[in-house]
Amino acid sequence: MDEKMARYFQPPDLKAAKKRGKEEISVLQFDQIPQEMRGIGEGKRYMIKTYGCQMNVHDSETMAGMLELMGYTMTESEEDAAVILINTCAIRENAEDKVFGEIGRLKTLKTEKPELILGVCGCMSQEESVVNRILQKHQQVDLIFGTHNIHRLPHLLREALFSKEMVVEVWSKEGDIVENLPKVREDGLKAWVNIMYGCDKFCTYCIVPYTRGKERSRRPVDVLAEIRELARKGYQEVTLLGQNVNAYGKDFTDHDYTFADLMDDVRQIGIPRVRFTTSHPRDFDDHLIEVLAKRGNLVEHIHLPAQSGNSAILKIMARKYTREHYLELVRKIKKAIPDVVLTTDIIVGFPGETEEQFEETLSLMKEVEYDSAFTFIYSPREGTPAAKMKDDVSMEVKKERLHRLNQLQDEISRKKNEALRGRTVEVLVEGESKKNPEILSGRTRTNKLVNFRGPKHLIGQFVHVRIDEPLTWTLKGEWVDKVDSRQVGS
Ligand code: SAH
Ligand code: SF4
Ligand code: F3S
Repeated sequence: MDEKMARYFQPPDLKAAKKRGKEEISVLQFDQIPQEMRGIGEGKRYMIKTYGCQMNVHDSETMAGMLELMGYTMTESEEDAAVILINTCAIRENAEDKVFGEIGRLKTLKTEKPELILGVCGCMSQEESVVNRILQKHQQVDLIFGTHNIHRLPHLLREALFSKEMVVEVWSKEGDIVENLPKVREDGLKAWVNIMYGCDKFCTYCIVPYTRGKERSRRPVDVLAEIRELARKGYQEVTLLGQNVNAYGKDFTDHDYTFADLMDDVRQIGIPRVRFTTSHPRDFDDHLIEVLAKRGNLVEHIHLPAQSGNSAILKIMARKYTREHYLELVRKIKKAIPDVVLTTDIIVGFPGETEEQFEETLSLMKEVEYDSAFTFIYSPREGTPAAKMKDDVSMEVKKERLHRLNQLQDEISRKKNEALRGRTVEVLVEGESKKNPEILSGRTRTNKLVNFRGPKHLIGQFVHVRIDEPLTWTLKGEWVDKVDSRQVGS
């Protein structure tokens, strides 16, 4: 293949991404698809490969929405695709390695089918080092665009289709919100709804504030209108999305309206279940606890990432809370919502973490008794402050700590699930179990996966299931009856 020239509209810049200005946040409306791009995908297929968090999953739904407005239809087969987009995640090194493996693998397909458009987007494309590496080593890529450039996909695709150069457009500093984006949602049952974008927390290990830009909240009217529309279309569950949902509204200059206010308003919309993720312990206020305790469609599950149980480590992570503050918050939540299910994220092997400090994470886990936890070995991210910290903890020790942490969590998860034996729970039936089509699977209000035998017409409905075989990560049970729609959530 000929060396392609790069056509830079704008390359990424981590330093620029760090700057947070006081500029106004503009709310823009999504432009229509440009005339010449309408119908350009007729008879052609697209494929989006998504890595990373729910934010990325939802961004992929937006990209699918735009591609379908241009006439493309979705395919699961790489060979059939005229456009393949890789929506990437930069959170840990292994996430990036997987993506580079994938880009390398797709080179053969691109050589066989030069008209294929291969695009890289998502958080990795916001990193200078990644873009440079693609430019130098992966000429098979036609298009790179950033997390702030998603709404520009129709324009960028036009450039990629009609130019011979690699198209790169990554805005590093961005504070805009684009409304009215088209979306193709995964199913008709559960929907993701962005309530805010970006993150201003700058935890010292984390790349997200650089890849997602400054914290900015969608206007309540727009969020509420979207949820009402989803309810009208028959969706049964929404998950409100933000890197730090408890900071919702802090950027409004013209009115006082917080995440608790939003939840209180969403509570009055006729959608049976409302979840949210992720909430940062630092900004979790009493008003929010009060609103969540009203229950109804607000489920009794809170994902509350602790990261560490040691105050000194929390301090160098810049989490801005202590072990004591975190435990006090947990105590307040449990008092207001006694059957709450708490889950968490933990990082082990942060630079300089001692055995004693790690043991405090174990003891936090025991004290809180999470129902489940996502646990990670610290991964240095270029450009973040922690990447420059001296790290004298060997990989062997980090792996051993992760193993001990997971063993403890498994014990707790099993105990928590065991407590449900013989109990009847409300389950939203999502579909056939992935492993066995004879079995249906769904989730409790607390987001636990339940498998049971039952007729297929239950899919999409709320049912009662009696748990008779609790396992560590899932529950098995017996279908009891359908839940009367007026009684869902009670
Ligand atoms: N905004 C969310 C987290 C998003 S990232 C929050 O603050 O809770 C999801 C999880 O990835 C984090 O909670 C953290 O546990 C983990 N993580 C982030 N950066 C990491 C890194 N450099 N190494 C290992 N784990 C990391
Ligand atoms: Fe990363 Fe911290 Fe922001 Fe979460 S709150 S996205 S961990 S910087
Ligand atoms: Fe990954 Fe970006 Fe999400 S780095 S975790 S996809 S915000």
